[in-house]
Amino acid sequence: MSAQQPQRIPQDFIDTLLDRTDIVDVVDSRVKLKRSGRNYTACCPFHKEKTPSFSVAPDKQFYYCFGCGAGGNAIGFLMELEHLSFPEAVEELARKAGMDVPKQEQNLSPAAIAAQQAKAQARNQAYDLLEQANLYYQKQLRQHPQRKQAVSYLQERGLSGQIAQRFGIGFAPSGWQNLLDELGTSDTTQSALINSGMAIKKPDSQRVYDFFRERIIFPIRNSKGKVIAFGGRVLGDAKPKYLNSPESAIFHKEKELYGLYEARQQQRDLKRLLVVEGYMDVVALAQHNIHYAVATLGTATSHHHLERIYKMVSEVIFCFDGDAAGIKAAVRAMHTSVPFMSDGRQARFLLLPQGEDPDTMVRKEGAEALTNLIANATPFSEFLFQQFSQDLDIHNLEHRAKLATDMMPVIQSMPKGLMRSMMISKLEDYTGLNQDTLAQLTAVNDPPAITAKADTALSDHHEQATINTDFVDTPTGDAPYAPPIPPDYVQADNYWQAKESWPTQPTTHHQQGYQKNHHIQQRQKASVQNPAQGAIRLILRHPTLAQNYAQIPDHLRQLRMADAGVLVRLLEICQQIQTQLQRAPKAAELQSECTTLEAWPMMRELAAMESLTVASDHTSQLQEAIDKLHHHYFDQRFDDLSQILRNSSGEEQINTAKKQLKSLLSEKETLQKMQKSR
Ligand code: GTP
Ligand code: MN
Repeated sequence: MSAQQPQRIPQDFIDTLLDRTDIVDVVDSRVKLKRSGRNYTACCPFHKEKTPSFSVAPDKQFYYCFGCGAGGNAIGFLMELEHLSFPEAVEELARKAGMDVPKQEQNLSPAAIAAQQAKAQARNQAYDLLEQANLYYQKQLRQHPQRKQAVSYLQERGLSGQIAQRFGIGFAPSGWQNLLDELGTSDTTQSALINSGMAIKKPDSQRVYDFFRERIIFPIRNSKGKVIAFGGRVLGDAKPKYLNSPESAIFHKEKELYGLYEARQQQRDLKRLLVVEGYMDVVALAQHNIHYAVATLGTATSHHHLERIYKMVSEVIFCFDGDAAGIKAAVRAMHTSVPFMSDGRQARFLLLPQGEDPDTMVRKEGAEALTNLIANATPFSEFLFQQFSQDLDIHNLEHRAKLATDMMPVIQSMPKGLMRSMMISKLEDYTGLNQDTLAQLTAVNDPPAITAKADTALSDHHEQATINTDFVDTPTGDAPYAPPIPPDYVQADNYWQAKESWPTQPTTHHQQGYQKNHHIQQRQKASVQNPAQGAIRLILRHPTLAQNYAQIPDHLRQLRMADAGVLVRLLEICQQIQTQLQRAPKAAELQSECTTLEAWPMMRELAAMESLTVASDHTSQLQEAIDKLHHHYFDQRFDDLSQILRNSSGEEQINTAKKQLKSLLSEKETLQKMQKSR
């Protein structure tokens, strides 16, 4: 505990660590705390006493004993209580927070130390400023001449002053420089306001103005109650309806949950959390005594969110609007939840009736009705089956196989345990396939290396079943075993015929069975009509393949061919999801995203057509299809030029076309050579 020790671990790291640690949790898990006003108390662990004089202040993140004078922050508490050194205490807290302590820097240059200190200072200044802004906005709601408009807006939405106060709701009046006039009188403050997103500098005129104007203000607090950003809602119908502070050093949208601090203030040992979409949903629910709602900040539910949530509670209910967007959000949340679904945890899904959100619902139907709906929300396993078997006819062989091939990889990426085993056996019941066959389907369906990458992105702490193994089921870290050679029927073209021996398949007359299968085969052969459809099919089944085409080849865009347009759209959708979720979409997720496209009926057919070819290299299959389309594009340009040659009479025009034709041919040759060498 010498004075230099803190310097060896970068100060910046310690600050971040303390930001992500709540001293109340640290103390409470070792010395049971009792709430007492704003603070918590207990009998002091550092001296003998009968009545509690030990107190923890969550707002200051400090403990203090009025009896013996012991006091300090979370690190100091651990050092004292468990007799740890400073680095040991940091290590312990970092482990809890899921952070890695950076290598200790022995000989930091003075410049590096200065840089660290500057960073820490900027951070603290940002917290200060945001707190001042918060107080300013709250004051405007009480005192500003235009306050009436804001207050009656909140009242119309059913909120009491008490709830507004609990959430620190405020009001940014109209005008361009209210906050700046209040806080930003010096240059340094002004630039700090710009850095924290509270003010904007117009690049051309250099004019600086307030970010939030004429809006209801929702402060976004971190888990310890420090304001880290704001959300602002217009009072009327202007656009955009909501504004959020931009990302900053202290605000990361995809990690924060609105209302989490307030929920824990109300009840520290929460049993469950309700994840909703909007600020107003959280606040309205609290108004009706449902205090365990949190909202993502206009983003999808991320694995960061789930990591935090599942550290606190074992049950999460996703409650979204029943419209297309809400269903999409629920399906995404379902996929992100998969790696978190260990035994003892639960995720449930509640889709509200069309046009309702938790806010309107609780106001219309009341808290009791909504609580009932929450209690009866669809459990994870059921929701998963519902989503995957949607539009499938369980009596149809082809559909049952699709269900199995879609679902198996998802189930396999759940943590090992009872719940996973149960889902596999449920899938067995549904499809009539036994475990071995199901496991093989997973192997067939997952392009190994690429999938592993995408799944890792999904959750970095999740044990990987598929990393570098072509086969499945080794999440415990045992050496991956060699993939067994798949049975012939999987390889053969007549895969579907083999299924006549499936246990649940009613023994059909041989002839009948043949005709049925024959029909399926014909349809399959007939369905992929061009390379674009082939590519679409591959991507729909194995969306990670799209990662190779982040830059969409220009020839695809240029092709006058409806299916190429669909392919481009599909690649774009993959890109969008990749950007939003920081991982490739799962097959089912991608497909549900595509249901609104005009081409969906065709795409659906293609997606259902998996022929289960084993050991085929999907990457090269896709490349081949895209190469073929490149040749189509040459043909298209050739046709265009030929038409010009046919139709024009001007010599100059003809000459130009001829030249272009010539260079087209040499371009084509170059491409062919390149493709051959690939
Ligand atoms: P109310 O109309 O106030 O009830 O809002 P809502 O929460 O019902 O709105 P909606 O379902 O449209 O949006 C849910 C959440 O998405 C909001 O709470 C915001 O976080 C975010 N959001 C909605 N509209 C916008 C917008 O225009 N811009 C941004 N950045 N976020 C938005
Ligand atoms: Mn709403």
